[in-house]
Amino acid sequence: MDVLSAVQRRRAAKSFDPQHQMPAAVRQQLLENAALAPSAYNIQHWRIVDVQDPQLRQAIREVAWGQAQVTDASLLLVLCADLDAWQEQPQRYWATAPQPVQDFLLPKLDEYYRGKPEVARDEAMRSLGIVGMTLMLLAQDLGYDSCPMDGFDFDAVARLIRLPANHAIGYMVAIGKGQDNAWERNRLPVSDWLIENHF
Ligand SMILES: Cc1cc2nc3c(=O)[nH]c(=O)nc-3n(C[C@H](O)[C@H](O)[C@H](O)COP(=O)(O)O)c2cc1C
Repeated sequence: MDVLSAVQRRRAAKSFDPQHQMPAAVRQQLLENAALAPSAYNIQHWRIVDVQDPQLRQAIREVAWGQAQVTDASLLLVLCADLDAWQEQPQRYWATAPQPVQDFLLPKLDEYYRGKPEVARDEAMRSLGIVGMTLMLLAQDLGYDSCPMDGFDFDAVARLIRLPANHAIGYMVAIGKGQDNAWERNRLPVSDWLIENHF
């Protein structure tokens, strides 16, 4: 599927076929290609929890307004970020760059993040946004539907997945075989949100 078609066909699925099991090879393809998403300084902040245990899915559903996608999707991914990823052996993020690039970027990266937790969080959330969209478009291409979700109690989900203290949850992405079509798409006209040159 071309990118334009994937963008146009993607909808936030409200229900998935609970019987469908995603083949392991498709799951692998989704995850490996999602990681090609860009991230600031190539830090790849994402830490993605693949919730497979049906009981854990049910427990998450109970703190997610009972939303059926949580239990019925073939894949339920909780997109988390490691807020300290910037200082965890950062040389590995630039291992293939020429030495002068590494020598320039590594101290810059430290300067950019050290002592600025809000910067680390903002950057991590940007990365999660992009990797999540990449996952959803890949899912579309592979014949699946998806739903990004943040309608849940973040603290409760953090406890259920045993989120480490230096991590944050961005949102969840449910992926599966969508069952019925969502209502007609609704978007504001471009003129409502496009600002040319200045506000
Ligand atoms: C960060 C985020 C959180 C969302 N949370 C939920 C959710 O909890 N449940 C749900 O059914 N849809 C959720 N959505 C889907 C939006 O409601 C949906 O994308 C929007 O209404 C536009 O519809 P479309 O994606 O089908 O074009 C979420 C979307 C985003 C980006």
